[in-house]
Amino acid sequence: MLNLKSPIVKLVLTLITVGVVAGVAYIMKPPIGYNNGYQPEQPIPYDHSLHAGKYQIPCQYCHSNVEKSRHATVPSLNVCLNCHNNVAADRPLIKRLKAAHQAGESIPWVKVHLLPDYVKFNHKRHIQKGVQCTTCHGPIEEMKEVYQYSSLSMGWCIECHRRPEHNAPISCDTCHY
Ligand code: HEC
Ligand code: HEC
Ligand code: HEC
Ligand code: HEC
Ligand code: HEC
Repeated sequence: MLNLKSPIVKLVLTLITVGVVAGVAYIMKPPIGYNNGYQPEQPIPYDHSLHAGKYQIPCQYCHSNVEKSRHATVPSLNVCLNCHNNVAADRPLIKRLKAAHQAGESIPWVKVHLLPDYVKFNHKRHIQKGVQCTTCHGPIEEMKEVYQYSSLSMGWCIECHRRPEHNAPISCDTCHY
């Protein structure tokens, strides 16, 4: 019989428990790369699964620069108020949006994706070549809160550039100044 009071048995049981918990935590989380899985809390709980999912508002209605420039940009309050001047106008969160707009303030959204300054990245080129938002950003239309889906590491960029169907440049100065 196991003597549950023996220090050795206790130690072994503790180690097994710790191992199982760590293993489950590892499996549940996406692999830790650079900032993989980074999911900062936002000042207003803006929900992509509602807007882009349930109501199917096109990504580019809000991220309108993505085809035209390097940055996709996050929409200004004007865009939100196109709808929310009327839609759900009595709810506390929407009142906060309106109050900020009236005060000439913007919502300090916390950036989720951030490449180091020495990397050149350009949305326009990728969108023009037909790379989908979800290929790089994952199932945003299912996210209540946006998180970083891909590692954004150099290896991740190059792995895709090398694929025969893309055949994109991989010289250092493609992505570095
Ligand atoms: C109604 C407006 C709206 C629509 C539609 C919308 N977004 Fe957004 N998006 C936002 C706002 C506001 C933020 C900033 C707050 C946040 O991160 O949740 C944001 C943030 C993001 C971010 C993170 C930006 C960062 O900080 O790195 C990504 C990526 C993104 N959206 C992709 C998409 C994609 C892909 C779609 C379409 C499937 C989409 N969005 C549809 C408003 C919108
Ligand atoms: C080839 C991969 C790729 C594709 C395709 C892509 N993105 Fe991004 N996105 C990125 C990377 C990388 C960043 C971080 C850029 C930086 O920090 O300079 C980013 C950042 C963003 C941001 C934060 C603001 C900004 O521009 O830095 C938003 C919003 C966003 N993407 C939305 C979109 C939407 C909407 C689409 C589809 C129309 C899209 N992205 C397609 C890789 C991609
Ligand atoms: C094309 C129309 C449209 C745009 C643009 C839009 N929304 Fe919405 N939003 C909706 C709809 C529809 C709902 C669901 C309202 C309901 O539950 O009846 C909603 C719900 C919300 C809610 C939840 C309200 C609550 O407490 O129940 C928040 C917060 C919100 N939106 C924020 C934003 C922000 C921030 C923006 C701009 C980045 C934005 N919305 C842009 C249509 C829009
Ligand atoms: C899912 C595939 C994919 C991923 C991931 C990806 N790219 Fe690209 N990239 C492409 C394609 C396709 C092109 C267009 C090549 C062309 O114009 O023929 C491209 C083009 C570019 C260009 C323009 C090259 C030129 O012609 O000057 C730059 C810069 C670039 N990518 C940087 C990056 C960086 C940095 C990352 C990672 C943060 C990245 N890409 C991730 C597919 C990808
Ligand atoms: C397709 C885009 C792309 C190409 C091509 C590319 N890089 Fe990078 N590189 C990145 C990105 C994105 C990062 C930042 C993320 C990271 O550190 O992995 C980076 C980071 C780096 C770093 C910093 C690593 C660190 O740990 O701080 C060095 C050094 C570097 N690259 C050198 C090179 C050299 C040399 C080449 C040519 C052989 C090259 N890169 C080609 C995208 C690219």
